[in-house]
Amino acid sequence: MKEKLEEIKVEAERELKAVSDETALQNIKAKFVGRKGVITEILKGMREVPESERPQMGQLVNEVKQFIEGLFDKRFEEIKEEKKKHILLTERVDITLPGRGVPLGAKHPITQVMEEIVAILERMGFEVAEGPEVELDYYNFEALNMPKDHPARDMQDTFYISDEIVLRTHTSPVQIRVMEKQKPPIKIIAPGKVYRCDSDVSHSPMFHQVEGLLVDENVTFGDLKGVLSEFVRLMFGPQIGFRLRPSFFPFTEPSAEVDIKCVICEGKGCRVCKNSGWLEIGGCGMVDPEVFKSVNYDPERYTGFAFGVGVERITMLKFGINDIRLFFENGIRFLKQFS
Ligand code: PHE
Repeated sequence: MKEKLEEIKVEAERELKAVSDETALQNIKAKFVGRKGVITEILKGMREVPESERPQMGQLVNEVKQFIEGLFDKRFEEIKEEKKKHILLTERVDITLPGRGVPLGAKHPITQVMEEIVAILERMGFEVAEGPEVELDYYNFEALNMPKDHPARDMQDTFYISDEIVLRTHTSPVQIRVMEKQKPPIKIIAPGKVYRCDSDVSHSPMFHQVEGLLVDENVTFGDLKGVLSEFVRLMFGPQIGFRLRPSFFPFTEPSAEVDIKCVICEGKGCRVCKNSGWLEIGGCGMVDPEVFKSVNYDPERYTGFAFGVGVERITMLKFGINDIRLFFENGIRFLKQFS
């Protein structure tokens, strides 16, 4: 029986060493020291051992059992350790690798320039006002001294929703909406989207304007010119040439176009300025007394000026962009240049 126990010890040690996963290890444990294991079998055979030797044999069996259990525990720890090492090795994360950058978006060039225009005018004391893009014919035309049959409506390529409702063709209707609600002094700007049924390299069916309106007693054309010349200098730099060219709008009198010296040829004449040396960025004028009448302002007491500039136009001239459609195609290579 002693030899048998020795053999068991050796056998258990050999088998435990040979395995490398936990389940197999548990199976071996069960085989040797489990309830139905080899040791239990041996204990059953104790009946055949002479009574005098039994305590000694019992002790021996226990020692062997404890020995095997000890081996098991040791091997169990070893396997756990090996497993951990394996995981550390194979599932290693290289924390020195640079991370994947999250690309930051940027503001659209139109938004950037729009914000710049607004910031410049706000610094001069203008406050932002808003109006709807789907507008009544009354605000877009009629109250601006353009009755239904007025030939100037022709210029505006209007999207009609119905006889009385249009997509606003300019930001000027905001002038009326503000004056209906407030009494002078008025000093507002109205940035926003406008719509005209027109599309080519320099026209887009949707584009942006910034309107300006200042109404008070004793406002003069000189004030208008001062505000606009300051605006273009802050926008394009102190060296930029600037002029007001006589023109016509039904809602201003006198009226003018706002021109800057051609940024491409600096006034020498080129394809972009059609050899005139000048580029138009908007319209302006003194508020027509007819407009004041439609908002119940006393034209004898108040005068005012208004202007409207094209944001796409200004952006194109500022950055040298030759096709307005680039703004709305959302090509990533185009947009990235403005981030
Ligand atoms: N609303 C005019 C336009 O689009 C521009 C303008 C605004 C002219 C204010 C004079 C005064 O075309």
